[in-house]
Amino acid sequence: MIKILEIGIKTDKLTKKFGDLIAVNQIDLEIRRGQLFGFLGPNGAGKSTTINMLSTINTPTEGTALILGNDLIKDRKKIRELIGVCPQEIVLYDLLTARENIHLIAKMHNMPSRTYKERTDELLGKMNLLERGNDLVKNFSGGMKRRINVLMAVIHDPDVIFFDEPTAGLDPQSRRVVWDFIKDFEKDNKTIILTTHNMEEADDLSERLAIIDNGIIIAEGTPQELKGRNGSGDIIEFRVTDQHLEIRNNIINFLNEKSEILWAKNLGKARISFSALNGLKKISFFYDMLEKQFQLKMQDLVIRQNTLEDVFLELTGRKLRD
Ligand SMILES: Nc1ncnc2c1ncn2[C@@H]1O[C@H](COP(=O)(O)OP(=O)(O)OP(=O)(O)O)[C@@H](O)[C@H]1O
Ligand SMILES: [Mg+2]
Repeated sequence: MIKILEIGIKTDKLTKKFGDLIAVNQIDLEIRRGQLFGFLGPNGAGKSTTINMLSTINTPTEGTALILGNDLIKDRKKIRELIGVCPQEIVLYDLLTARENIHLIAKMHNMPSRTYKERTDELLGKMNLLERGNDLVKNFSGGMKRRINVLMAVIHDPDVIFFDEPTAGLDPQSRRVVWDFIKDFEKDNKTIILTTHNMEEADDLSERLAIIDNGIIIAEGTPQELKGRNGSGDIIEFRVTDQHLEIRNNIINFLNEKSEILWAKNLGKARISFSALNGLKKISFFYDMLEKQFQLKMQDLVIRQNTLEDVFLELTGRKLRD
């Protein structure tokens, strides 16, 4: 049987200008239905502006997009029924309880009260906030408010969900809770767009991702593809035995001549380090190669994987977080 991959979101030269500033510049993206798609970029890159256009909050200056086949400009009303949005700025009613805030959104979506009451408690439980359900959100910490904000985006069980920096300001433990929560939606064939400037988050959660800078998509692919294509490569370090110490420079020269190796150098003592794109995947190849050539077995092997931060640095010459 041929599996037809449905399109969740397709953008066509999507553009937003604010006066002379081009915040989002002719973005063409295709996101499969059921995919968790990451949007990684520094402050001011155009992530929120893109989300705001796709969620009908802002009108594009040029271009358009299809959300589950519905046109962004012509089918705004239908799109609003299909989507859930977790905005970057937390929007909560301080004088309502956590439960009441979530119920309010459910009522706006005309959900039957029994359904939304049960679902609210189920969602609060997943965020470890069930016990705090009846407390006023004005007494909540920033991290607790952020988690309620995330729940409000999904109470009506939308098919497409936009999470704009859902873990901003969360401690590592709460961040994990939110990551697990978001990952859970993948099982339900939900199309998810998540923005972040946290490269670990983008790497860990996204099935595919786009790196955006100055309103332009500068790279797109799976995290593995991007790290296998750009950046400084995986760094592999190993120790040679006394027997090989004298020929260490020959080994380094040999490694430097290999096209898949970006560089190789002497680390002092009896250690050698080299870098290769997708080095982790090719480690057994390198191991066999050195064994065959020098009868050398790499010892005390250490591998540091290329990160999306390295990819961003190579593409832009800047760090993600300045
Ligand atoms: N309403 C607006 N009026 C004028 N300029 C705007 C407006 N909204 C955004 N911008 C500008 O558009 C650019 C992109 O902003 P956007 O909020 O999309 O970035 P972002 O990638 O979400 O950044 P961050 O990581 O800081 O949230 C910025 O230069 C910003 O100043
Ligand atoms: Mg933003």
